[in-house]
Amino acid sequence: MRAAICCFASTLTLLSAGCKMVAPSPPPNHNVSTAIRLTVPDHMIQYGCPACHVIPGVPGAVGKVGPPLDGLAQRSYLAGNLANTPENLERWIMHPQHYQPGTAMPEMNVSAQDAGQFAAFLEPTQ
Ligand code: HEC
Repeated sequence: MRAAICCFASTLTLLSAGCKMVAPSPPPNHNVSTAIRLTVPDHMIQYGCPACHVIPGVPGAVGKVGPPLDGLAQRSYLAGNLANTPENLERWIMHPQHYQPGTAMPEMNVSAQDAGQFAAFLEPTQ
């Protein structure tokens, strides 16, 4: 009898281990983007930017945690202390905690490629 319980328990363990393999956690955002062509707004939604920012052109981007990202090109400074250049904008998006330690904007492992696209989207050069 004891052996039967034991066997049942180990079968359960195997089953749950099997489940984990069938349903892995979703892949990191930048991998998804290489598999499927996503638009910049789609991408921003994946990273979670809209939860904290109002972003024109991004559906559902009504977050109020951070400043609205409209008219960004007109601002002299990013996050109050970083000169607003396209390069600095990319750097900020990739490493906000480096430039403003303790800011509510988290490190989101944004790739350099994605940061470049976000910067071009937020500050189009015309
Ligand atoms: C959890 C909330 C949160 C998320 C998610 C978030 N941000 Fe932010 N963001 C902030 C906050 C707060 C600030 C203001 C930082 C400061 O001034 O210290 C900020 C500042 C910024 C700024 C500078 C704006 C300015 O006027 O100075 C940019 C650009 C920006 N975020 C882009 C993004 C992008 C792109 C994403 C997604 C990849 C993103 N943020 C995700 C909270 C967030």
